[in-house]
Amino acid sequence: MNIKSLIRNVPNFPKEGISYKDVTPLLLNPEAMDFYVQKWANQIDSPIDKVVGIESRGFFFATLLAKKLNAGFVPIRKSGKLPYQTLQESYALEYGKDELEIHTDAIQPRERVLIHDDVLATGGTAKAACNLVERLGGEIVQCNFLIELSFLEGRNQLPGREITSLIQY
Ligand code: PRP
Ligand code: MG
Repeated sequence: MNIKSLIRNVPNFPKEGISYKDVTPLLLNPEAMDFYVQKWANQIDSPIDKVVGIESRGFFFATLLAKKLNAGFVPIRKSGKLPYQTLQESYALEYGKDELEIHTDAIQPRERVLIHDDVLATGGTAKAACNLVERLGGEIVQCNFLIELSFLEGRNQLPGREITSLIQY
């Protein structure tokens, strides 16, 4: 299965000079989605308590992966979307700035957590997500991504962490 053929490059979106990696063609293909969720699951050889997905594109696969690993799913959302008590972290984006939140009861101390997002770009989003999980006492087993924009060196924001991605540009 050629995953790159299922990712559409959209030049100059959402801003001039940004080449947007559009995963919606992949979402149209249930066989491919199964295949790649299984690939992520195969990289995990110890129990996972929670899979954390990052709004919004991280949600596409994180719930499927949580189900596959028999783990709970935890949404990390942009500011003001979660209804209950939250922790917050600000971060810089490839384009812009934002704040992420997690529910304070989403992760218990020492739970084993996998963080998933669609894209690792500059790494600011993933770093903020890791901080939120660790502030709740969670142990991050792995951060996995569908796409890694290697030239932006996002891994440098996540020193010492296990990071995997299925496609690199
Ligand atoms: C995109 C992408 C990642 C993040 C990566 O999300 O889905 O979450 O940027 O960028 P970084 O590594 O430079 O932080 P975006 O904030 O555009 O929102 P969306 O997922 O809701 O589309
Ligand atoms: Mg995102």
